[in-house]
Amino acid sequence: MTDDTRTLASPEAAAEILARQPDLEQALAYYRNHLASETAIDLSVAENVLLFHHSMKKKIFDNIQLIPERNIQYSPPAGTPELREQVAKLLARAFDVKVVEAKYVFGVAGVASALECIAFALKGADPVGPPLKDGDEVLIPAPYWQGFNWSFQERPKLKCVPVNLPTTGADRYRLTLALLKKAYEDRKAAGRAPRLLVLTNPHNPLGVNYPRALLDEIYGWALKGTDLHIISDEIYCHSQLDSSTTKFTSAVALDAYRTYAERIHVVWGFAKDFGLSGFRTGFVVSKNAAVRDTMLGNNDPAEPTHPLPWFSPFDSLKTYVIQYLLDAPANGPGSGLYTTYAMKEYRTLLNTSFGKVKAALDAAGIEYVHRPGDNAAQFFWLDLTKYLGKRSAHAQEATAGLPDAGPGGLDPDEEWLFRHLAAKPTEVTLLPGGAMHNPVPGFFRLCFTARQPEDVVTAVQRVATALGKLK
Ligand SMILES: Cc1ncc(COP(=O)(O)O)c(C=O)c1O
Repeated sequence: MTDDTRTLASPEAAAEILARQPDLEQALAYYRNHLASETAIDLSVAENVLLFHHSMKKKIFDNIQLIPERNIQYSPPAGTPELREQVAKLLARAFDVKVVEAKYVFGVAGVASALECIAFALKGADPVGPPLKDGDEVLIPAPYWQGFNWSFQERPKLKCVPVNLPTTGADRYRLTLALLKKAYEDRKAAGRAPRLLVLTNPHNPLGVNYPRALLDEIYGWALKGTDLHIISDEIYCHSQLDSSTTKFTSAVALDAYRTYAERIHVVWGFAKDFGLSGFRTGFVVSKNAAVRDTMLGNNDPAEPTHPLPWFSPFDSLKTYVIQYLLDAPANGPGSGLYTTYAMKEYRTLLNTSFGKVKAALDAAGIEYVHRPGDNAAQFFWLDLTKYLGKRSAHAQEATAGLPDAGPGGLDPDEEWLFRHLAAKPTEVTLLPGGAMHNPVPGFFRLCFTARQPEDVVTAVQRVATALGKLK
């Protein structure tokens, strides 16, 4: 915690705001900034501070002084043509394809909005296949980022259906085609064949990249054998460990993309890889005409529609800052782009941080789910199941303002452990797996990019001390 991240809300006002946060992760971000003590270490929120301190502050933010008049006025809600062109180039590099065409890239305020826009588009007049309707189901391997529920359920009125990954055995936390097929067939037999499949690649919270062969199988089955659309959430695509032997494969690099592009929609944003979470930048990459009309508007005289991003735009202020970032040279004129340099440096920072935190977890005997050769993105998926139901000799300390888990709640033992670690003297917040639809209690997500590696290591040591006292 640094002084400049705290604001002066009264405890009552802060508590009132906290009670209204839409989910546990957002509530924990607020708690960290406004209520937690100076010594608390929050590793619950998926954020990335590494690049800002490394170079982004100096090379980008320290130089942004004046916002030109043009950038305080209206600008295209799905991003200016220049911005879409530059993001298309950045994504072509990240997705390892020759070209991503800018006309298929659309900006909006955050990936959560990008996902919602796709859902609305597929419910519209002209998607490939029958339009989705209220109550249509969305298959999502679980655990998953709980925000999918906001994006698909709250306004588009679709229904998220978790496909539980196995939590024990040889295929522990592994996605297989058989699992997806079974979930699909079961729902179909109940008269509710799902219409949308969402894959997060690299995965949050498991960190893994899906192997190309598995993606070929899944896309082949879903696109040939069903009328599913697939959303590939690739928001962590630059977050790669050098030790990962399963390389990241974007949906747009798959063979299936050549035939079925209109049913494959990719999303990405600057929140995670670039650490710009508060900016709310999201991009949809889609060749589907209904998605395009939703993102850019449709001037069909029979039924004109406004661009959906008008209501959550890639506004002129973020256009200015992101454009500055995309134009900036790495090291003075002629030195190449800062973004290319930044993603290379980020990879080194990520690997270093992962190595230090892994060593600390191993030294402390804290278990986590990670096989050699797997990617980790920004996470360790801690297995604290053996501490469930154990208690310390001391009563649990109250943690003023620590948010409730929200509707549905958490398993009581998981919640106890979450609160115990968040309380003094440990003061480390981790995200309980129950907040991510994990099928069993006792798993916690630790985001190792949320603080500098030294702080994360300190947090791991404090957690180890607390766990060591449980009987
Ligand atoms: C998989 C995934 N998709 C989307 C988002 C949300 O992105 P944004 O903050 O750009 O809305 C997150 C944030 O945690 C995420 O983990």
